[in-house]
Amino acid sequence: MTHHKENGLNTEFTQGLIAWQKTSGRHHLPWQSQNVYHIWLSEMMLQQTQVATVLDYFVRFIQRFPTMEDLANADIDDVFALWAGLGYYRRAQFVHQAAKIMVHQWKKQFPCERKKWETLPGIGRSTAAAIVAFAFRQPETILDGNVQRVLCRVFALDGDLIQPAFIQQLWQFAEQLLPENTRDIPAYIQGLMDLGATICTKNPHCEQCPQQKICLAKQQNRISELPHKSNKIQVKKQELFWALCVDKQNRILLVKRPHHGIWANLFCLPCFENEQAYQDFIDEHHLVKMQTLSACPHRLTHRMLNIRTQVFRLPEKPSALANGLWISFENLSDYAKPKPLDRLLMDFYAQSHPSASKKRQDK
Ligand code: ADE
Repeated sequence: MTHHKENGLNTEFTQGLIAWQKTSGRHHLPWQSQNVYHIWLSEMMLQQTQVATVLDYFVRFIQRFPTMEDLANADIDDVFALWAGLGYYRRAQFVHQAAKIMVHQWKKQFPCERKKWETLPGIGRSTAAAIVAFAFRQPETILDGNVQRVLCRVFALDGDLIQPAFIQQLWQFAEQLLPENTRDIPAYIQGLMDLGATICTKNPHCEQCPQQKICLAKQQNRISELPHKSNKIQVKKQELFWALCVDKQNRILLVKRPHHGIWANLFCLPCFENEQAYQDFIDEHHLVKMQTLSACPHRLTHRMLNIRTQVFRLPEKPSALANGLWISFENLSDYAKPKPLDRLLMDFYAQSHPSASKKRQDK
């Protein structure tokens, strides 16, 4: 696995990729610049999220926080509000924490070593490598899931991606593919990303691939079997019970989630993992059920949630629920919420106040 440098395959792979990136890769993305703050922020947003989704969020974010310093001095709730809808909300906390470290401890001296970036919250080896490759042309490679797939196919590597030892070998293999000329590093790294995201996908477009002449999986007709992954992550099923409490003025009750676990720090409805606790809450507060909304399935990385929501009308603002906030529909967007809750509330208000929700969407 370590001899491609001599047989020239790596040169072909690497030079082919660079040339292809320049003509056919993705250009003019708003974070493709020399601005380290933009590069870092975009890599954080792109960790679990596609380019098309990130574009708007990125632009809004840098309008609101134009510099690292602005972000470091921001209120975390404002950061959350801008992150709302992007998902994986721990990243919002990570960017806020990391900005504070870079501004207050590092005095805005952005490091050019990958290892230093890895000490910041939310940054693993691939993210750190992408940042220093783009910003400083450092010869560091990325190896996210897309790149693993590309390498396993082009070089017909049939190790098991579940095995840490194989991943370790892949890192070394990937390092050997880096171009010698550091001037080419950004195009090469961007090419790896672009190829994995747009061509060498689960159902790949081999006829458009710059590696089609050297791809061993293609030659051996093994595209569908590579890469190997012995057992995929287990997705557990989980029921959740949400109480949508509405008061006389049509305000709804939001409760801030704990600092840890699912949807940490976001605002949500009163939420219960078992039916008994939910029933206890209903009994304790003498809630009167008005309506059962249709159950809403929602996939998280390791969990398939089935969210069951009931609507309760409250005659007056009950003091026992005072650790929550009563929020009117107009102000809901000020609160960062889980994605399925945003959808649910939008649907709920559309059905119960058609004109109010129309007005809101027009805003
Ligand atoms: N995925 C992760 N980083 C990316 C980038 N800079 N451009 C496109 N896709 C990416």
